[in-house]
Amino acid sequence: MSVESTAKHPIPAGFEDALAKPADYTRLYDESIRDPQGFWGREAKRIDWITPFTKVKDTDFTMGQVSIKWFEDGALNASVNCIDRHLADRADQTAIIFEPDDPKSPARHITYAELSDKVNRFANVLLSQGVMRGDRVVIYLPMIPEAAYAMLACARIGAVHSVVFAGFSPDALSNRVNDCGAKLVITADTAPRGGRRTNLKSNADAALLHCSEKVRCLVVKHTGDQTTWIDGRDVDVLKLMEEVSPECPPRPMGAEDPLFILYTSGSTGRPKGVVHTTGGYLVYAAMTHEYVFDYKDGDIFWCTADVGWVTGHSYIVYGPLANGATTLMFEGVPTYPDAGRFWDVCDKHKVTQFYTAPTAIRALMGQGPEWVDKHDLSSLRILGTVGEPINPEAWVWYDQHVGKGRCPIVDTWWQTETGGHMITSLPGAIEAKPGSATLPFFGVKPEVLDAASGQIIEGNGVEGVLAIADSWPGQMRTLWGDHDRFMEAYFQQYPGYYFTGDGCRRDQDGYYWITGRVDDVINVSGHRMGTAEVESALVAHEKVAEAAVVGYPHQIKGQGIYAYVTLMNGIQPSDDLRRELEGWVRNEIGPIAKPDLIQWAPGLPKTRSGKIMRRILRKIAEDDFGSLGDTSTLADPGVVDELIENRMNRA
Ligand code: WTA
Repeated sequence: MSVESTAKHPIPAGFEDALAKPADYTRLYDESIRDPQGFWGREAKRIDWITPFTKVKDTDFTMGQVSIKWFEDGALNASVNCIDRHLADRADQTAIIFEPDDPKSPARHITYAELSDKVNRFANVLLSQGVMRGDRVVIYLPMIPEAAYAMLACARIGAVHSVVFAGFSPDALSNRVNDCGAKLVITADTAPRGGRRTNLKSNADAALLHCSEKVRCLVVKHTGDQTTWIDGRDVDVLKLMEEVSPECPPRPMGAEDPLFILYTSGSTGRPKGVVHTTGGYLVYAAMTHEYVFDYKDGDIFWCTADVGWVTGHSYIVYGPLANGATTLMFEGVPTYPDAGRFWDVCDKHKVTQFYTAPTAIRALMGQGPEWVDKHDLSSLRILGTVGEPINPEAWVWYDQHVGKGRCPIVDTWWQTETGGHMITSLPGAIEAKPGSATLPFFGVKPEVLDAASGQIIEGNGVEGVLAIADSWPGQMRTLWGDHDRFMEAYFQQYPGYYFTGDGCRRDQDGYYWITGRVDDVINVSGHRMGTAEVESALVAHEKVAEAAVVGYPHQIKGQGIYAYVTLMNGIQPSDDLRRELEGWVRNEIGPIAKPDLIQWAPGLPKTRSGKIMRRILRKIAEDDFGSLGDTSTLADPGVVDELIENRMNRA
């Protein structure tokens, strides 16, 4: 199918009364840029404040003194905004629909009244374990309602949660527990997914061997499977919840008190602990959820992300619940028990907004449209995508087979660091273009910079790197315990701007097209991964002397992981060793980091100063041997020929 990538796709009929219409977008956007104080001062009233703020914005992007504060002297509680304030009108409305992995198990509908009861009790359990305001709590849970209860319970008492994706290995978990100095870890016995069970508790046990012995472990007995139990350290949360009081007074928190830490990959070193604070984050998550998904009372909102990623934080938990919405949590995978599961769930629960990643769309597209066609998708109103650029073919398939041409698609570009959507279309206001994230959200000032000089590139029809010129309320405030690294990572390269790490194009209509990361971060199935993390896992293996990892185009995953591995002297490459290394990386980081391709590399292309030339490795991985660029600075140019030859022979 040939796809015209630059034509605008008209807004489907039925969106004439959307929350934002075309003229509203222009008017509100202009106002948000002209008068951020007035604009955000008004918008922040969408959430309830215990002490109203008098200051709106106090932000400085100057390298060396970066400081970001919003609504600084206000006080609020995030759990009150997500629960208590809805009780008068919505006590019996469903807050969370829980759809279990096994479609034969009944779905659960948790009302706002029940959510309140559970979160209050959970908060009292945390208090009973000595968790205090400002303490860190690591949440290592699968996609079950207790994950949301745990997050909101932390917010209620002012503890800072750090959710670690349940697919991460014990090592990854212990690193995060230690980095943030968590007082306790919340996990579950086992996690059903796609008909199989992961033993989360034993992962947590393994992780805790490398943590202070003071760290407690709260266990949600979700499946009832047998696990080990260490008396004095392990606590049965569900049992304790029955014993404690159903009332826990919310703690008033400063707008700039941390709400959560979320670890994400950077181009160098260990994962970074991105810190989000309470007021600005909540205003931004709630507002983007309402505008971008044209959220209306009675809608059933489904974001398929995992709560272990920022998308789950902002668009399963905080945004929807702050808006009093019904949010769906799905424990399973798109292909279990068959490739129609997503559509079965949409049909069963009459989902109105469906938000997923391009990789899932591509995978399901490959299974054929019949899986979609057999379900009634007439409840769907809006479709969304996030996590990576969507190829126009997948966009068109999504539009035609899932949306039947009548649902606007919002392609939302944003990052863990941004807290919420930054560049995205709006259902009734901005016409989409397949593959483009379109235009900036209110208050967001994107700039295209020349990568080398850092100069602003004005006008349309231009390409460069994407930076943001001013702060917005959902912006991260710092990296946990390392403000210097925060400034270096995001503000040093292009002084005066927040640098996103993405490349982008601004077309003739002023629409933004994200072209992917320009740093050593790769995006595998919408999961962010630092190539350095995979490399350090590989070189930790006794038979590996050196490793270099790059991304390469992958039909389903967007990018795959390509690892060049140099073995220790005397070690022979073999298929067994290849499998051993794959398993090794799985264990070190988690299944999402397993290399897709390992190429044995007798040597790696290095400059005379010893720096690996990744540019060349990327080209070889992409089978693009013709444009390797200048190789004259290499210490040993012969290495490259050898790598190309190996690459060609392996196909
Ligand atoms: C990429 C996920 C193109 C981008 C919310 C960004 C996208 C990184 C899009 C952040 C999109 C996310 N189009 N690329 N709609 N959304 N990205 O922190 O490279 O897991 O920098 O946040 O994903 O990934 P993260």
